Amino acid sequence: MKTDKIYLVGFMGAGKSSVARALGKRLDWKVEDIDTRIEQSERRDIPAIFREKGEPYFRARERETLVGLLAERGAVVASGGGTFADASNRELMLRDGAVVWLDAPLQTVLQRVPQDGRRPLAADRLGMEQLYNQRLAAYRQAHLRVDAGRGSVEELVDLIMEWLDT
Ligand code: S3P
Repeated sequence: MKTDKIYLVGFMGAGKSSVARALGKRLDWKVEDIDTRIEQSERRDIPAIFREKGEPYFRARERETLVGLLAERGAVVASGGGTFADASNRELMLRDGAVVWLDAPLQTVLQRVPQDGRRPLAADRLGMEQLYNQRLAAYRQAHLRVDAGRGSVEELVDLIMEWLDT
């Protein structure tokens, strides 16, 4: 797979940000994190954005941030759990680079994602389960699926590196 841009997608708690950092280091590429960029430009954290401006506002910033990153090459981009669930974002991402789905089982993400208010859409477990099931069809459209339910971050990076070499 020849590419100069990788998008990591998948549900909350799949490990997108940690894998992005480790993969970026391995490839010696820059690492971009869509959520972090939004928080920096908005000068407040995601719970505050959801609370004060609402989810549609957040989604618009998410889209803008994605578009703003299109020019970047030699980059690993950690998306938010909902970024690739949007059809027009999905189209952009699939055209712009290699999209890797970190597929973690529901039980794993439920265990990993704390209910500390840092993720507004993780407020209740039933809601999370519904969202998880709704998004599977979108995530399946990624170019590569890796099992993110087991294995260390470095092992996941190994798998992605092997695929990039092929
Ligand atoms: C969201 C996931 C979060 C963040 C926001 C919305 C989602 O990112 O973008 O809270 O819709 O699943 P992580 O997947 O990095 O937690």
